[in-house]
Amino acid sequence: MDKFVINGGEKLCGKLQAQGAKNAVLPLLAASVLTDEQVKIRGVPQIRDVENMLHILTEVGCTVKRQKDCAVIDSSSAVSHEIPTRLTKELRSSVFMLGSVLTRFHRAKISYPGGCDIGLRPIDLHLSGLKRLGVKIVEKDGYIHCEAQRLQGADILLDFPSVGATENIILAAVKAEGLTVIRNAAKEPEIVDLQHFLNAMGANVRGAGGGTIVIEGVKRLHGVDYTAMGDRIEVGTYLVATAICGGEIETSGVPAENLAALLHKLRENGCKIHTKNDKILLRSDGRLTSVDLVETMPFPGFPTDLQAQYAALCCTARGSTLIMENLFETRYRYAAELKRMGADITVRGRAALIRGVEKLHGACVMASDLRGGAALVVAALNAEGQTTVTDIAYIDRGYADLEGKFRRLGAKIKRVRI
Ligand code: UD1
Repeated sequence: MDKFVINGGEKLCGKLQAQGAKNAVLPLLAASVLTDEQVKIRGVPQIRDVENMLHILTEVGCTVKRQKDCAVIDSSSAVSHEIPTRLTKELRSSVFMLGSVLTRFHRAKISYPGGCDIGLRPIDLHLSGLKRLGVKIVEKDGYIHCEAQRLQGADILLDFPSVGATENIILAAVKAEGLTVIRNAAKEPEIVDLQHFLNAMGANVRGAGGGTIVIEGVKRLHGVDYTAMGDRIEVGTYLVATAICGGEIETSGVPAENLAALLHKLRENGCKIHTKNDKILLRSDGRLTSVDLVETMPFPGFPTDLQAQYAALCCTARGSTLIMENLFETRYRYAAELKRMGADITVRGRAALIRGVEKLHGACVMASDLRGGAALVVAALNAEGQTTVTDIAYIDRGYADLEGKFRRLGAKIKRVRI
C-alpha cells in the first residue's frame, strides 16, 4: 500500500512522451487470442490494468513475455474458455475476452466484470450484440455462459455508442461468417487503433472512427508486430496539471484532434496552446478563468475520463463552472476529498457546481477511483503546503510512473510505502 506525498506550488516545465494508451492496449491484448501465431505489441504501459490483462491471458493458457513496454503473446497454447473470476472482478476490460475467446473456442465463461466503481456499468449492450451474432447466452450463479458453434454476421444497432460493446462485437465478428454492420458505434480513437491492429492481422474492418463500422468475416488471422497509439487521457492529465500550476509543457504521441474538446476548454481558460502533428505545446501563467459549462459526451465530446482532473482545475479558476457527467452515475467521489483541500463544490446527481477559490490547501485525501485519484494529485500540485494521497493503487491502474514523470516536470511528489 503506497501513498503520494506532494508539496504544492511548483511550476511544471518540460516534455512528456505519452505512454501507450491503456484503453487501446487492453482490447488489443484481448484480440491477441484471435490467432495462434505470435503477436507483438509495443507501447504496452506498465500499469496495473495491463498486468491484470496479461495475467488473464496467462491463465487461459497463453505464453506471455514482457520486455519493458513490449508484450509478446503466443496463444497457440491457449486452452481455456473460462476467464478467471478473481481477475475479472479486478478489471472491467476482461469483458473483451468474451468476443475473442468466443471466436477462438466457440464458447466462453466469465463472471460479471469489475473495475472502478463509477456507476452501474452494465454489459447488456455487449450481450445483446453477441446474441445478434448467434451467441447463446445463459446467466447462471453469477456467471455468463456463452456458446456459438457458428458466429454469423449481423446488422447491429447499439442503443448507445458504448466503447466496450463496439469493441467486443468487432472482436466477435472478425471471423464470423459474412458481413457485420455496427450502427451507432462508438467513435473513440481507440476503436480506430483496434481496427488498424486487426487489419494488420488480416481482418477486414472498415469505418472505425465513424458511426457505422463494417466487418467482413475472414477465415483466419495471422501474427502481427504493432505499436499501440498514445494515451490521450494521460497526456490530458499532464496538460491540465500544467494549466493549474503554470509553466510550459510539450507533449508528444497524441495528436491534437484526439484531445480537441479538452484543448478547446483550456484555451477558453486562458492557456496558450500550439499543436503540430503529434505534439501539443501548452503554456499557462496559472491564472485561469472559468468556463460556464462542461458536459461529458462520447467522443469527440469532452471525455468522462478527464472530467475529474478538469474539475480540479475549476477549483481555483476565477468564476464558477457547472460540470455535467453524462456517462457514469457516480463519478464525483473525488469531490468530497477536494473539499477537504478547500474546494467549493456542490454535487447534485449528475451535476457539480464548482465555485473557484483563491487557493487550495494541503490535506490528507484518499483516491477512490483511477481518474478521481489523478484529480487529487493534480489539485495537490498547486495546493499550499503538503498533501498526502492514499489508496493510490487506483492511480497505478492507469498511469505508469506518474510520480517520476511529474518530478521530471519540476513537481515535488514522492511515493511512500505505508
Ligand atoms: C470505456 C473506457 C473508459 C471510459 C468509457 C467512456 C476502456 C477500457 N474503458 O469504458 O475508460 O470511461 O469508455 O468513454 O476503454 N453501458 C450500458 N450497457 C453496456 C455498456 C455500457 O448501459 O452494455 C453504459 C455504461 O454504463 C455507461 C455508458 O454506457 O453509462 C458508457 O459506457 P462504455 O462506453 O461502454 O464504457 P466502457 O467501455 O466501460
